[in-house]
Amino acid sequence: MSQFSKQLLLWYAQHGRRGLPWQNEKDPYKVWISEIMLQQTQVSTVKDRYLQFVSTFPNVEDLAKAKADEVMGLWAGLGYYTRARNLHACAKVIHEQYQGKFPEDVVSLSQLPGIGRSTAAAISAFCFQKKNSILDANVKRLIGRIHAVEEDFKKKAINEYLWTMAQELLPENARDMPAYTQALMDYGATVCTPRNPKCSTCVFKKECRAYQQDKVEQIPKRIKKTASKEVRSVMLCILVNNQVLFNLRPPSGIWGGLWSFPESSWDDHLEIKSLQLQTLEEFHDLPLSILRKALPKATLLAPRKHVFTHRTLYFQILILKVKHVFDVDKTRFKWVNLSEVQKLGLPTPVNQFIQDYCSVNS
Ligand code: ADE
Repeated sequence: MSQFSKQLLLWYAQHGRRGLPWQNEKDPYKVWISEIMLQQTQVSTVKDRYLQFVSTFPNVEDLAKAKADEVMGLWAGLGYYTRARNLHACAKVIHEQYQGKFPEDVVSLSQLPGIGRSTAAAISAFCFQKKNSILDANVKRLIGRIHAVEEDFKKKAINEYLWTMAQELLPENARDMPAYTQALMDYGATVCTPRNPKCSTCVFKKECRAYQQDKVEQIPKRIKKTASKEVRSVMLCILVNNQVLFNLRPPSGIWGGLWSFPESSWDDHLEIKSLQLQTLEEFHDLPLSILRKALPKATLLAPRKHVFTHRTLYFQILILKVKHVFDVDKTRFKWVNLSEVQKLGLPTPVNQFIQDYCSVNS
């Protein structure tokens, strides 16, 4: 298996992906941003969003000094918003505790907010030629197949075994680490794919124990997912002419730190068949008497569906037009002009609704 890195590098020189904007980047700030974005978002989406992010915040100091709303706004639509909150927190640590310079070793890197062991290894390999293997899902699959690991990769001992195997495959020469690391990612994404892997063209056919034992499709072992839970919520779209009221969600959990409509709690049996006064009871942070007056002319929209990893949300928007803006707790609520809404970090389905609403009502 000592040939592994040589073969992979040869393959990469001929067949690796080209033209990804973060490729051959040595600036740890930019590599870090791209790696965090790529964790749960597809390459095709990340391309533009990465360029937009690094042109808005070209260095760690700019990001550290940015307002949370600006960072969340720039992240809107990418999902998994903890990543954006951690990016901001991490930028502040680098700026304040590391004089704006990223540490080079994986141990220090992986102690920073939002940087796990694999991302730490990627940054240290791409930028500082350190010999630490990455182990993202693509690499786990590749190595798991080569060693015919049939057990659940999530088991602690199996996961550790994969880390050990990954580390053993590294190239001898540290100078090869950036290309080798990108090659591992590219091989997992384009050849050793989850479904329909391209075994016929694979350069590791001889070494791959899964291939030899005709078990490629069974590895990694697929774990049955539990059914996603259905939850329901009512969201209030409170309008005064072109002004709309937003509510800051708590910092953790789904859509944490994003501005959204005031929402009822996410309930698993709530069904609003008609506009009843008690529909509003939950919104006791808002002036209920004003909202109740607007209720007879309110519009309740059909439920919309939004699918998360472990939950499906059915939400109904209640459009309430009130005559005047009312006072709100400014730490948690704000009135925003519809034309300014795009700058906020809104949850995707709320943003979608606003776009639909504006296109119909403009
Ligand atoms: N996924 C994670 N990191 C990546 C990278 N550097 N290039 C392509 N896909 C990736």
